[in-house]
Amino acid sequence: MATNMVKEQKISTSVLVIGTGGSGLRAAIELAEQGVDVLAVGKRPRNDAHTSLAAGGINAALGTMDEEDSWQQHAADTIKESYYLANPNTVEIVARGAARGIEDLERYGMGFAREEDGRISQRFFGAHKFRRTAFAGDYTGLEIQRTLVRRSEQLDIPIMDSVYITRLLVRDNQVFGAYGFDINTGTRYLIHADAVILAAGGHNRIWRRTSSRRDENTGDSFRLAVDAGARLRDPELVQFHPSGIIEPESAAGTLISEAARGEGGVLRNALGERFMERYDPIRKELSTRDRVALAAYTEIKEGRGTTNGGVWLDVSHLPRETIMDRLPRVYQTMLEVQMLDITRDPIEIAPTAHYSMGGVWVKPEDHSTDVDGLYAIGEASSGLHGANRLGGNSLIELLVFGRIVGRAAADYSASLCAQPRSVEAIAQARSEIDGLLAADGQENVRALQRAIRDMMTEHAGVVRDEAGLKMGLAKLHDIEERMASIGIHPDIAGYQDLAHAFDLMGSALAARATLEAAIERRETRGCHNRSDYPELDPALQVNLVWSPVTGIVRELIPAVPAEIQKLIQEVSTVGKLVE
Ligand code: FUM
Repeated sequence: MATNMVKEQKISTSVLVIGTGGSGLRAAIELAEQGVDVLAVGKRPRNDAHTSLAAGGINAALGTMDEEDSWQQHAADTIKESYYLANPNTVEIVARGAARGIEDLERYGMGFAREEDGRISQRFFGAHKFRRTAFAGDYTGLEIQRTLVRRSEQLDIPIMDSVYITRLLVRDNQVFGAYGFDINTGTRYLIHADAVILAAGGHNRIWRRTSSRRDENTGDSFRLAVDAGARLRDPELVQFHPSGIIEPESAAGTLISEAARGEGGVLRNALGERFMERYDPIRKELSTRDRVALAAYTEIKEGRGTTNGGVWLDVSHLPRETIMDRLPRVYQTMLEVQMLDITRDPIEIAPTAHYSMGGVWVKPEDHSTDVDGLYAIGEASSGLHGANRLGGNSLIELLVFGRIVGRAAADYSASLCAQPRSVEAIAQARSEIDGLLAADGQENVRALQRAIRDMMTEHAGVVRDEAGLKMGLAKLHDIEERMASIGIHPDIAGYQDLAHAFDLMGSALAARATLEAAIERRETRGCHNRSDYPELDPALQVNLVWSPVTGIVRELIPAVPAEIQKLIQEVSTVGKLVE
C-alpha cells in the first residue's frame, strides 16, 4: 500500500509518554499537575497494563509495623541484595523518596490494607530486614494502576492505548517525537514532542516460562532506545521469580506472589522435604529471590522435583481468613486455572522469568538517557536492582521516578528555544512500516517469537554456561536470518500481526544483548548463575553497558556511602549452590 493512501494523523505535544503502565501514568500525572501538555500512548488497555499484575506489595520504610526501620536500612538492604551492582545514588533517591511515593498514592485515593488503628499494614518480603512492604491484598499493582488511571482521568490526560510506537524520531542525537500506528485501524501517527519518556517495560517475555502475558515485555523499550542511539545496562540480569505455575501450558509462568511465602507458605520437594532449610537455614522461604529460585531449580534438576518438573508451595496450613484476606488473587487464580483449592492443597511451582533488572542506560538523578530529551523509567530503565531485585522495589521505583522524570522532562521542554526535526527520520519510520506491510514471506512471526523463547529458555535460563550461551547466539543468528522472510497479514480484525512483527524485532535485539552480556559476565552473582564460573569475581563488580555499536563496555559503580555501608549485614553464602 502506498504511503500517500495511508491515513496519517499528526499530533503535537510537549511530552510524549510511551507506555501506560504505572511508571508512564505516574510521570504523566506529574506533568499534568505541573500544567505541562502531555500525551500517553500504549499498546494495551490502560486498566490492563502489566503493572496490574504486580501482586504482593510496594516498599517504603514507613515504620508502621517496625519502628526501627529507616530509609537508610531500605537502601542498605537494596544494595546488599543487588550484589553491589545497584547504583547507590539511584538507591538513595528511591529509598529517601519512598514515603512520599506512598503519600502520593494516598492523595490519589489508593486503598492500602490497614491495621485496626488505621496504620498502613506492612508485610515481610524476602531479604528485607523489617516489614516494609505495604499492600492491597495480593492485588497491589492492580489497585495502584486503577488509582493512577483514575487520577489521570481527573486531570484529563489524553491516553491513547491502542497505539504501537515503532520508532523514536531523532535528529543529531536529539529526540523530536515518535512514529506509530493504531493496532486496530492501522492509522499512522506522527507525534511531535519536545521530550519523550520511555515507559514500555522490559524483556522477560523472551523466555518460555514467564510471569508476563502474551505481547507484554517483549523488549520494545530496548529496541526503541537502541535504534535512537541509547545504550542498555546489564541486560543479562533478569530476575527469575521462584514461583510460577506449571500447568496449564497456556498459563505457565503465571506468578504466585511472594506474599504467599511472606504470609508463612512453605516450600517442599517431591520427597516432602522443606528444602530451603538446606539452602538458607535462617531465612528459609524468606531468603532472597535469587537463592529461592536457584534452590527450586536445583531440587528439580537433581531429581527431587515433581513429575511435572516443579516443587510444592504450601499455604494450606494458614488460617482460611489469612488466605482470603491477604492472598485472594492466588486463591482465585488457582481455582480458575487448575480448580485447585489452596486452602487444602499445595501449589506446584517452578521458577519463572519475572523482571528485567537491567534496561536502558539512564543517569541516576533524572533518568535521562544518552539521547537528548529521551528519558526511560520503570522496567525499561536500569540502576536500582543490580543482580537481585528486592520484591516490592519496582512499584515504589515507578512512584518515585515518575515524579522526578515528569519534572525533568517538563524542565527540558521549557528550556528548548527551538527543536531540529528531520524529514529523513520521518521517512525512514514510514518506510519501515510500508516494508513490513508488503512482506509476504513464508516465515510466521509467532513461530519465530516461540523460537526465541525456546532458545533463551534452553541457553540463558536460571543457570548458564559459556558453551550454551554461544550456542544460543548461533541459534539467534539463524532466527534473525529467518526474520528476513516473514509474512505480515493484517486482516479484518486489525493490525496485530504488524505489532507482533515489531515485538519480534524487539525480542531479537533484547535476546542478543542478553546473551552477549551474559557471556561477558564470567562469574556467578545474584540471578546470574554460571556453572562454569561458580564464584563471584570482584573485578566484575561493574555494570555491563551494551550497544550494537560499542559492544560491551564496563562501567564503574560509585562507592556506597558510609552511612549506608555500616547498615549492610553480610549473610553467609552457604547454600548458594550452582549445579
Ligand atoms: O511476588 C510478588 O508479589 C512480586 C512482587 C514484585 O516482584 O515486586
